Amino acid sequence: MFFLVNLLHFSHYFFFLDLPVNITILGPGAVGSLWACYLQKAGHNVSLWTRSSTPSELSLSLNAKDNSSHSFSCNDKDSLIHCDLLFITVKAWQVESALLPLLPLLSQETILLFMHNGMGAIDAIKAHINHHPVLQATTTHGALKESSHTIKHTGMGHTVIGPFNASGNQCQFLQNVLEHSLPSIEWNPGIDIALWKKLAINCAINPLTAIHQCKNGQLSQPDINQDVIHVCTEVHQVLQKEDIEWEEIELVSMVNQVISATSENYSSMNRDCFHKRKTEIDFITGYLLQKAKQHGISTPINETLYNQIKQLEENLL
Ligand SMILES: NC(=O)c1ccc[n+]([C@@H]2O[C@H](COP(=O)([O-])OP(=O)(O)OC[C@H]3O[C@@H](n4cnc5c(N)ncnc54)[C@H](OP(=O)(O)O)[C@@H]3O)[C@@H](O)[C@H]2O)c1
Repeated sequence: MFFLVNLLHFSHYFFFLDLPVNITILGPGAVGSLWACYLQKAGHNVSLWTRSSTPSELSLSLNAKDNSSHSFSCNDKDSLIHCDLLFITVKAWQVESALLPLLPLLSQETILLFMHNGMGAIDAIKAHINHHPVLQATTTHGALKESSHTIKHTGMGHTVIGPFNASGNQCQFLQNVLEHSLPSIEWNPGIDIALWKKLAINCAINPLTAIHQCKNGQLSQPDINQDVIHVCTEVHQVLQKEDIEWEEIELVSMVNQVISATSENYSSMNRDCFHKRKTEIDFITGYLLQKAKQHGISTPINETLYNQIKQLEENLL
């Protein structure tokens, strides 16, 4: 069934008809597997696309205590060719290498939905994907892949989706599709503002927790919290030039709220360094530095943090 393609221009009917959507998840790690389970539970046809061609089927359990197991086909070309929605949940630095080889197999009407931390990964491949409806998303749901078959939903959250291009703007009906699978979902036509705010918070928390190898909560200690504030001051200057309306005091207050609400958590960059994996620094602080340079703004503190993480990566990998 290739309903969505035919109904894209009548997308409001699509939702009212309550049709299942054909969805392929590209990169079923923690976040991708979480969405795969919830979307399948909601009645959609979900298949997975992994880095390796084996196995051809994968079963996933959502939370260890949940008896229900979800079975998915993996790397099935037919499902990919006929998917209405390609949900891309690889990390920012994996987007290009994961997606480009698949593009020749996709219909032009396949909707591309990107969900990752950081900014700039989609801009880098814009020319290759702009004939598709493209959407971006940011989520505060927490997910942990406890084993190759078990996903833990570590924290309920909120997801914001919005268009990257004009044809993406016709896909607001996806808000309902996702809301019925893993709420809550907000449609935001100015998704860049949400992405910038998330990036600002990540700039303040992620590098420092990776460098100090500490939980988020430790950033509230006065000596480290001074560094958090200095990072925010520089980030705020860039936000202003990008026309993101957010007072510096609000940014600092939001960062401190996140630190307090997630005090027992380790940031993703902390975990990446701990497990000796490449981080998303190029798409978080790296993106900020790129924009600061374009605007002629000096950001020495963020530059130092960026260089420290790159040095850590070099030593670890
Ligand atoms: N986890 C969370 O709670 C959370 C919350 C909010 C946002 N995020 C963001 O969401 C994004 C995904 O995070 P995550 O925690 O789900 O990371 P993850 O567990 O590492 O998932 C990424 C998945 O993509 C796969 N992949 C990489 N290259 C691929 C390719 N060429 N083809 C197919 N699959 C490929 C990886 O496979 P391999 O295992 O083989 O490398 C992995 O399974 C990140 O940007 C993260 O910052 C995460």
